[in-house]
Amino acid sequence: MKVECRPIGFFDSGVGGISVLKEAVKLLPGEDFIYFGDSNNAPYGIKTVEEASKLTFEAVEFLISKNIKAVVIACNTATSAAIVDLRKKYSIVMPVIGIEPALKPAVELKRKGQIVVMATPMTLAERKFNNLMNRYKSQAQMYPMPCPGLVELIEQGMVEGEAVEKYLRDKIEPLKEEGIAAIVLGCTHYPFIKKTLSKLLNNEVPIIDGSLGTVKQLKRELIKSNLASEKREGGKVTVYNSLDSDEIIKLSYKLLECE
Ligand code: DGL
Repeated sequence: MKVECRPIGFFDSGVGGISVLKEAVKLLPGEDFIYFGDSNNAPYGIKTVEEASKLTFEAVEFLISKNIKAVVIACNTATSAAIVDLRKKYSIVMPVIGIEPALKPAVELKRKGQIVVMATPMTLAERKFNNLMNRYKSQAQMYPMPCPGLVELIEQGMVEGEAVEKYLRDKIEPLKEEGIAAIVLGCTHYPFIKKTLSKLLNNEVPIIDGSLGTVKQLKRELIKSNLASEKREGGKVTVYNSLDSDEIIKLSYKLLECE
């Protein structure tokens, strides 16, 4: 098989990276994708960096066994924990793309109030995020908001309804008085609860995620390395998951299709 015809690997600790894959399918409709979700070990965000890094390397090895030409770590937590070491090991053989909270577009909006960054406890504690935040702290007030427990709800397919609404209301309500300039979704699971979140904010606050930026980066890397497919349509998606359950595979495809 010609190298440019090989699939692109996508990885997340669970179903969250599907939100990034969805953008990739739109931007690169001729590419084939292999998605691996490690739902059996999710959430990563409350593990140690060493544990999350080890699991990420195992996942990348699995994707490599599927003959991928590039890998996207579609998980902010796994990116924080492992991207430097992953690039050391794999970037001589293929492009390695990661994701980080999209602070830049939120700052550029120049809206009044705090920029709330929702992410896992690990993402917010790691150096990668703190360096990023320091870059913008003179331009905007940031409010890092760890959201333990939210990934678990989404992994069960709960993206709407009372449990998610209550979780988000409890987090957001106390911040409303000070004013919220924008919300950055710094975990790839969270775009699936964007509708519920937006409703709680009367659709008045911009909610930003890093999916499109990540996928544009993937496209640039494929072109630079002569790895882009010549096909313009007809790409296919195959989903694998470490949980031995049809339900999680069904949920993954359902999330891929949902608006
Ligand atoms: N989707 C992952 C992220 O972007 C969730 C991490 C987790 O498993 O806790 O951070």
